[in-house]
Formats: sequence, structure tokens, C-alpha cells
Amino acid sequence: MTLPSTINQFPGSTCPKTIMQKLPLLLHDNQTLTNEELTLLIQTDQFDSDLASLADSVRKKYYGIDVYLRGLIEFTNYCKNDCFYCGIRKGNNVLERYRLLEDEILSCCETGYGLGYRTFVLQGGEDPYYDDAKMIPLIANIRKHYEDCAITLSFGERPKESYRAFFEAGANRYLLRHETANETHYHQLHPPVMSGKQRQECLWNLKEIGYQVGSGFMVGSPYQTTEHLIEDLRFLQQLRPDMIGIGPFIAHHATPFHSFPNGPLRLTLRLISILRLMFPNTLIPSTTALGTIDPSGREFGLRCGANVLMPNLSPVAVRKKYELYNNKICMDEEAAECRHCLEQRVVRAGYRVVTHIGNVKPLEIDGQSTQ
Ligand code: 5AD
Ligand code: FES
Repeated sequence: MTLPSTINQFPGSTCPKTIMQKLPLLLHDNQTLTNEELTLLIQTDQFDSDLASLADSVRKKYYGIDVYLRGLIEFTNYCKNDCFYCGIRKGNNVLERYRLLEDEILSCCETGYGLGYRTFVLQGGEDPYYDDAKMIPLIANIRKHYEDCAITLSFGERPKESYRAFFEAGANRYLLRHETANETHYHQLHPPVMSGKQRQECLWNLKEIGYQVGSGFMVGSPYQTTEHLIEDLRFLQQLRPDMIGIGPFIAHHATPFHSFPNGPLRLTLRLISILRLMFPNTLIPSTTALGTIDPSGREFGLRCGANVLMPNLSPVAVRKKYELYNNKICMDEEAAECRHCLEQRVVRAGYRVVTHIGNVKPLEIDGQSTQ
């Protein structure tokens, strides 16, 4: 959408054109905007290139051209939940279920370590088989073998005491997207037994225990409005996570949302840039979902402010069974092939892959570090 020169106002807004044009810079300088200003920024593609170049300058200030890698191990596709959007939901009875055993998980770590990964992400559905009695020794075992690595967990909601026990066993980070900060919208995406409040409580518990926390949401999920997106940004301003993962919603054929349209690429990229400007030092992955809706999606994500990639380390034999959405990429590539492919993509986008643990950098305020 381009603003006609004869019109001095954005359609439907009381914001003069001159102020409009300064919105990306205003967000860069203040790390926040009013709801009205955010609405304008989210709803127009007019400032996308300004947003992306400011976001890239901020990412370079903190992270240079470094891209951090996290090796993803999808260790179980069993799930007791029935989220309406997700391909591994309990109600999907055409899906073949699998669990990786401890030895298989350790062997993924070994391969990953050899490829330079220093963060392992254990991701799975909410699988009651993997209770505390199984998870605690597994985490302790990975910790024992890989002292110089971060162990990231991502398998949904658990009681605070379980999160604490995993942390004490050696886990450092936890990824749990809040999905949507609006309770009504949360109920449109999930069955009644789940609640946004409970999800957010888990995030606060994880923070209190001392985890580095990642949260996030889908872009263009069914029934999502601009107001919901602004609520997501406001919730993230309260939570202040170390990592924020967003990706487009992508329909999955065997879910209730099978015929909803996919989330838009441009809007996802715009939101990555907005996130980088609001949360300058945050780790922002360029997600697999982004790479699925466009062959260059992950490269675009990096250029719009993202600084993390999460390639798959799961055995190829189980990859297709972890299909959260249609046409998920990297289903047939071995870990080493993904590593090589990503390296090339990162270089083509103008960045470089680094092999260290990839912790978040401290936020700087007026040139002073906050830690
Ligand atoms: N499209 C896009 N993202 C999805 N996720 C789950 N299902 C889909 C889908 N159909 C995301 C959720 C979840 C993360 C692991 O994957 O946000 O938290
Ligand atoms: Fe897996 Fe490109 S990242 S094939």
C-alpha cells in the first residue's frame, strides 16, 4: 500500500503523514509505540524496508553478523493435547506415533556436537510417558556428556516442581510459546481444558526458577486480529523473554483448521523487524515455518532482524512423523545435509554461522550494559 501524496493522513487514522513516516525510527529510539501507532505499523507494508534496515542495524550492534544454531531433537510426537492447529494433536488418528529412546537422543546429540552445535533442544508433544522419572536422568546424562552445551527443553506445560527438577538436573533454557495473549483468541485455538492464563503462569514459573525463557506466537492464525498481535507484543514487554519465536500459521490437513489460509510472509517479516526494534538484544529465530511458506523465508527472516536458526537433528526415519503443518521442510535431509545447506543460506544472506553456545547479550541502555 502506498500513501497518495495528496492525502495527508493515513486512511482511518488521526496520525499526520509526517509522524507516520517516522514510526520505524520512533520505535527504534523508544523501543515502544502507542497502540494506535503499532496498529498503523502492523497494517501497512509501506515501512517494511525502513523497518528491516533499522532492525538489521540493531541486530548487528548486538550480534554482528553472527547466526546462532540450535540443534532440534524432536523426541516424541505423542501429545495429550488437542490444539486445533497442530498436526501432532491427540485427535490426529492417522498419524503414526513414535518416541526416541535415551540412546537415540544421545546419538542425535553426538552427531550434533560433531557438526558444531552447542545447544540441544529437546522438543516434543505433551507426552505423559516422559514423566519426571524419565526426564530427570535423561537431562542429567546429556549434561554429564556435554558440559559446554546449553540444554533447552520444549515439551509444554508441567508443574513448577517438575520444571525445577529439570533445571536442577542441568537444563538451562525452556521454549514455550504463549501462542496468543488474548484469552478469547486462546480459546478459539485450543480446547476448553487449556487456558492462556495457565500457559502464561508456566512462563512466569520458568523465569522464576532461572531458566532462559523463549516465548512467541503464530502469525496469521485463525481469527487473529491486529489487536491480538498488539496484546502479544504487550505481553512480551511484561515477560521480557530471552528468545521470541514467531512463524506463520500453516494449515495441517488432519486438523480442524485444515482449510484456513496460511499466515502471510510479509506480515511475519514485518513483525520480526518490529520485535527486533522493541527487544533489541533478544534472540529471534528465523523459523522452519517461515522456510516452509517461502523457499527463501529463513533468509528473509535473517535480513529482517532474526539471528538464530534451529535445524533438525532428529533421525530422518522419524522426521515425517513430526509434521506440525503441511509441507514442513527438511524432511529427508540428514543432520549434516541441513547443517551444510544452512551454512550456505546464511552466507548468501550476508551473515555467518557461529558454533558457540549462543547466549543472549545484555541489553544496553545509553551505551551501558544492564548486567
Ligand atoms: N502452523 C504453524 N506453527 C505451528 N505450530 C504448531 N502448529 C503449527 C501450525 N499448524 C507452532 C506452535 C508451537 C510450535 C512448536 O509450533 O506455535 O508452539
Ligand atoms: Fe535442512 Fe536446508 S536446512 S535442508
